[in-house]
Amino acid sequence: MGWVYIEDIAEHEGEQVTLKGWLYNRRSSGKLHFLQVRDGTGVLQCVMFKNDVSPDQFALADHLTQESSLTVTGTVRADKRAPLGYELSIKDLQVVQMADAYPITPKEHGVAFLHDLRHLWLRSTRQHAILRVRSTIIRACRDYLDSRGFTLIDAPIFTPAACEGTTTLFATDYFGEQAYLTQSGQLYVEAGAMAFGKVYCFGPTFRAEKSKTRRHLTEFWMVEPEVAYLDLAGDMDLAEDFIETVVQRTVRERRAELETLERDYTALERVRKPFPRIAYAEALELLRGKGFAVEWGADFGGDEETAISQAFDRPVMIHRYPVTSKAFYMKADPLDARVALCVDVLASEGYGEIVGGGQREDDLSTLERKIEEHHLPKEVFNWYLDLRRYGSVPHAGFGMGIERLVAWICGLHHVRETIPFPRMLERLRP
Ligand code: 4AD
Ligand code: MG
Repeated sequence: MGWVYIEDIAEHEGEQVTLKGWLYNRRSSGKLHFLQVRDGTGVLQCVMFKNDVSPDQFALADHLTQESSLTVTGTVRADKRAPLGYELSIKDLQVVQMADAYPITPKEHGVAFLHDLRHLWLRSTRQHAILRVRSTIIRACRDYLDSRGFTLIDAPIFTPAACEGTTTLFATDYFGEQAYLTQSGQLYVEAGAMAFGKVYCFGPTFRAEKSKTRRHLTEFWMVEPEVAYLDLAGDMDLAEDFIETVVQRTVRERRAELETLERDYTALERVRKPFPRIAYAEALELLRGKGFAVEWGADFGGDEETAISQAFDRPVMIHRYPVTSKAFYMKADPLDARVALCVDVLASEGYGEIVGGGQREDDLSTLERKIEEHHLPKEVFNWYLDLRRYGSVPHAGFGMGIERLVAWICGLHHVRETIPFPRMLERLRP
């Protein structure tokens, strides 16, 4: 390739190499320039001695602006004091473009300002660390499912009907017909499960709730496995194993990034099976014991979720919520028709719900009744009802929100930094 990446620098000790990147920061003192060069894989200290380069080059370095693009050639030297354990002694410097005065300086900036400059903010060390963690989480999710015989069945983004309640739909004009941006690929992966047994979809999903909480995005990514012949208990086993595997792999492979974020990952190392499983009714008792005035039937809000998760040292699974608070497709518990065979997984340390799922209603007439009770247009669900007409079987699955998982693993208060370009109630740009 003709150049090397900073993350591979240790393989080149003593060699002359070329780096291609940008100037992250610079300090100078008479005979010496310290150039912090970043190339997307790391930041390396590059040292330029006055005597090693031409006077022109030395003067050029003196005027280099933050984020100027450049190539540097020099010798890799081990240095215990350097953050990476190596530094580069510069022999040659070429400027690709001298950057204008960069708006994001090492001083503190406000959150709104940084989000307006999200396209540049991505270059900062913290954002870089978060998005590398995100990338690994997504790979870990895909590898988990791909290596266990799940077939990827992509779900459509334009849909004719609601999956998760009609109040949070983004409507759009589809050649004169009303269409909606998908809230979940679930209904489509159910069709996939009947055809392929074990399937998943992984894509962007949309929710139009006018919510400003720290856990809401209007556009977020969800991975949704769905399995034929699986019941609620099996679904919880799958969710638990999936979460443990993804978290442990990410902690192993992204330790440096978690250290950059000052994330205490010992809490994440405790994310091991089995996770506690409590029924909704038990969660209610736990909340009342902590002074919450919650009535049977209510769904839990962010404060309640935080309080429940703080009672455990690892993620907790809450199953069998009241049917009244849940979506139309949920199967009622044959032992207690007031509750659904569903599960929410709450992350540890108060990071809230990361997974929602459960067993699906597989009986045709019950499902027809539920569609009516939820005032959903029956005609657009006819294809879905076919799945109950032709070889219906018990089946279950869940959806895991990637941004909530990234926030938890990185230890971030708000989900807005967990996605490259967040979409929120008050943000459509850049
Ligand atoms: O609990 P939810 O709404 O479940 C479903 O959509 C099911 N159809 C999934 C399934 O069974 N296949 O959403 C699932 C997860 C939540 O636990 C949360 O992690 C994430 O998606 N999520 C959001 N993340 C960010 N912003 C939002 N507005 C989110 N809404 C849900
Ligand atoms: Mg949910």
